[in-house]
Amino acid sequence: MGCTVTEKIIAKHLVEGRLERGAPIAIRIDQTLTQDATGTMAYLQFEAMDIPRVKTDLSVSYVDHNTLQNDFMNMDDHRYLQTVAAKYGVKFSRPGNGICHQVHLERFGKPGATLLGSDSHTPTGGGIGQIAIGAGGLDVACAMAGQPFYLTMPQIVKINLTGQLPPFVSAKDIILKVLQLLTVKGGVGKIIEYSGGGLQTLSVPERATITNMGAELGATTSVFPSDAATKQFLQAQNRAADWQEILADADAVYDTEINIDLSALEPLAACPHMPDIVQKVSELKDLKVDQVLIGSCTNSSYKDLMTVAHMLQGRKIAADISLGVAPGSKQVLTMLAQNGALADIVAAGARILEAACGFCIGMGQAPNSGGVSVRTNNRNFQGRSGTKDAGIYLVSPETAAATALTGRLTDPRALGLQPPKFTPPEQFSIDDSMTLEPNPATEIIRGPNIKPCPKREPLAKDLTGTVLLKTGDNITTDDIMPAGSKVLPLRSNVPAIANFVFAGLDPDFAKRALEQKGGFIVGGENYGQGSSREHAALAPMYLGVKAVIAKSFARIHKANLINFGILPLTFAEPADYAKLTQGAELKIADISSALQNKKNIFADIKPLNIRIELTYDLSDRDSAIIRAGGMLNFVSKL
Ligand code: F3S
Repeated sequence: MGCTVTEKIIAKHLVEGRLERGAPIAIRIDQTLTQDATGTMAYLQFEAMDIPRVKTDLSVSYVDHNTLQNDFMNMDDHRYLQTVAAKYGVKFSRPGNGICHQVHLERFGKPGATLLGSDSHTPTGGGIGQIAIGAGGLDVACAMAGQPFYLTMPQIVKINLTGQLPPFVSAKDIILKVLQLLTVKGGVGKIIEYSGGGLQTLSVPERATITNMGAELGATTSVFPSDAATKQFLQAQNRAADWQEILADADAVYDTEINIDLSALEPLAACPHMPDIVQKVSELKDLKVDQVLIGSCTNSSYKDLMTVAHMLQGRKIAADISLGVAPGSKQVLTMLAQNGALADIVAAGARILEAACGFCIGMGQAPNSGGVSVRTNNRNFQGRSGTKDAGIYLVSPETAAATALTGRLTDPRALGLQPPKFTPPEQFSIDDSMTLEPNPATEIIRGPNIKPCPKREPLAKDLTGTVLLKTGDNITTDDIMPAGSKVLPLRSNVPAIANFVFAGLDPDFAKRALEQKGGFIVGGENYGQGSSREHAALAPMYLGVKAVIAKSFARIHKANLINFGILPLTFAEPADYAKLTQGAELKIADISSALQNKKNIFADIKPLNIRIELTYDLSDRDSAIIRAGGMLNFVSKL
């Protein structure tokens, strides 16, 4: 039986498990990337593992999310990221060099390699034939320490592209079509693999637009084969040696197959407030638009912006439109400047924004209240733009440029313009001076807001302490570790952020936990639901929480508790939940040996003088991580 592209790459990296759909597997990671919003904690965690140098083939630290210098904390973070990268063997992409996914594609992405990134759009790398997966900061820190990445072998969906895109229809319309067909949940537990004759006409940056928004499908990742177009792109980046051919076998077996005829596609838009509410632009007539923003890691390539420049050349944008254009990288910006396209864009009335995430993450360019903003990025959730009642439409660069010219959401085919003709360049402008090479002699600079990542001691023989808090059902990670502008800047300072644990439910929790030197939390059903926020486990660990005893746990939070050495326990008898009250004293004797020998465990409760049985659902590896005192200790012991 033949193999898919996915299976070929995973098979070469498999270190545990078998290539069977649904089976637990572990894969070796060749490359990692981090960005500044998640990177500080990932490197603090890496430092806590006491490993002298990263063990990956290549690790890159990008600064692209928050390049604004509003106060000292942000620039302090950048200094820390730069120096910690140098010390531990990580390349550092300076602010201004571009958006992580665009730069990685240009300069580092490699067909057949695995890439793990602490950013959800890491799957962009699939455009060059990598298996590129987004993960939490600790997972990336572990990969830098040489640990494999654990996942469940996904199903593989084949999307067969036939035909050729008509004029003014582009890669963004392909992925919007896929979102319309599969919805934002359609990719969960799956890898989306593209194939078919239609691929030949798609260059690597166009493919990367498609794999980028695979994240919006909820997919593990998306991948294209590595073929002649991949080779051409790498040659033009002076990286011909990085190319290898990786094609699916003719008799490869997929779990699902979907056909899309590119010739039949037309310009599409994702309407407020979800990327899968997709309609034809031609059917959204006469929508008055206030703002157009072109850029982000989805659509900021040289091809994208040359297309925009061609459409704007010699024309002026509508009087009541604000147009911002953010190139994806210094390479793109330089080439636009060198060939005059930048002048065409500026002459039309656009404002040139930094080569960074910027508007995509709500860092500037918030639309007017109740406004309509047409954008080329990948997410249009309510409020993400910075204006809660604004409506965001996600479109192709062609539709965005047409809209900027008319002031209304416009099908680019309707303007009667000459279709843009674009031939991928034979040579990109190469200047890697904004990527700094490592230097192990570097001293790490830590601003006052950057504190080491706390570690916990290995699991004690007995667990003792009081019930610090008893909660009800459906406690979210937001309840445990709130976000917001007061809390977020403290993400690199666990002792400070820990003061906000359970702040909305019980403002004295942190103080009490520290005074009592930790203890237990009792929860109801579905404890820890919501976002995957690591700090909802890390900060309670800092406060000394030893175990959470709940009726049930949300999956990701339970994994985070284990990673940070907090034991997740459930009631053998759910009615025992009523017996545990805040302030009760607990003793779980011989816990370490009980876990190691897979024995039943019991908690003695004072002052009731009763004993209840507790259960646990831990793999051998989970149990070893808990006994080591969390993942950081576990990895450094290895
Ligand atoms: Fe940045 Fe937005 Fe992409 S925040 S990494 S441009 S999704």
